[in-house]
Amino acid sequence: MRVDFNVAINKGKITEDFRIKASLPTIEFLRKQRAKIILISHLGEPTPFKSLFDSKNINTENQEFSLRPVAKYLGKLLKKRIKFAPDCIGDKVKKEISKMKSGEILVLENVRFYKEEEENSEEFAKKLSENVDYFINDAFAVCHRNHASVVAITKYLPSSAGFLLAKEVEILNKAYSHPQKPLCIVMGGSKMSTKIKLILRFFDKADHILIGGALANTLLGAKGFAIGKSKSEINMTDGLSGIDLTSTKFHLPIDTVVAKEISDKAKIKIKGAGNIENDELILDLGPDTIRLFNSIINESKMVIWNGPLGLFEIKKFARGTNEFAKNLVKTKSFTILGGGDTIAAVDKLKILNKFDFVSTGGGAMLDFLSGDKLPGIEALKV
Ligand code: 3PG
Repeated sequence: MRVDFNVAINKGKITEDFRIKASLPTIEFLRKQRAKIILISHLGEPTPFKSLFDSKNINTENQEFSLRPVAKYLGKLLKKRIKFAPDCIGDKVKKEISKMKSGEILVLENVRFYKEEEENSEEFAKKLSENVDYFINDAFAVCHRNHASVVAITKYLPSSAGFLLAKEVEILNKAYSHPQKPLCIVMGGSKMSTKIKLILRFFDKADHILIGGALANTLLGAKGFAIGKSKSEINMTDGLSGIDLTSTKFHLPIDTVVAKEISDKAKIKIKGAGNIENDELILDLGPDTIRLFNSIINESKMVIWNGPLGLFEIKKFARGTNEFAKNLVKTKSFTILGGGDTIAAVDKLKILNKFDFVSTGGGAMLDFLSGDKLPGIEALKV
């Protein structure tokens, strides 16, 4: 079973376990069926140091990306001893599988240690599928990647979606095809390039589009407002053609929290959009914008949110994201949340469970809602 255990780990400790917990229903189901469960995942973006073919040239081992702590953590969650194989293919794995009893779980080492994983190599996928009868993909969050443990593996095994993947597809499909109205899209974070397609696709469908984070800086800059030395992707404003920045459904910050440095000790000022000096940075929504955004979501029936609205990692600049999140869970709207940073921000407030649906996908959720076909999902179709 392909899972996405790409979770936050600090010095061997899992600091955010949302994706691990999200995979439990399928794991529990398989345990009840007395299956021998082999879990495959990636963790982070390690430089591959293994290869099926040219192992001599690849040797920059990086154990910081090992899934061993995740296997241990899963054991704690399930109150069960979980086995761990220090590789994902080869003799050691074969031996571990041969010793497994029904209902047991084996976690394999990070598939991205092999360079063939990201190459979607058929030879590698074939190796992964040895000694196995069936493939289940429950890793929605990595379905936008054309990788061997997600796509090529389906050529060698009868395959299907797990409960998590099926639920993600069902809810996100419904959100696009039959949204509850008024529909509000909220986009933050920094990468305009990953969000522009979604904004364009929802432009007619959504009643309101709220923009925060560095994304807002790019758009404020595109509208001709001064943004000082704020983070932005002002060079890619070409891609904005098609977005009607003057549309009344489009809401950019009307005031902002600015500082001259990114630090908890920074002196902050509240400034109207456009009044930013050359040496200042926009780091959060201002109070009027928070009020405006909150009043819009109070009237909405469905809110889809991806991306923090300010530099939430620093307390001084977390107010916009935090107040918005706290208000959002109090509204009567159906709330959909996604994106690693947004989940981390909301998790800190201990209100993640108050959202109606939290997608495990970051890039996958954005691509799916943008209308892209995700290779991992396409590969399961017969
Ligand atoms: C994610 O965190 O979005 C998924 O685990 C995919 O990770 P990736 O962006 O490194 O492919």
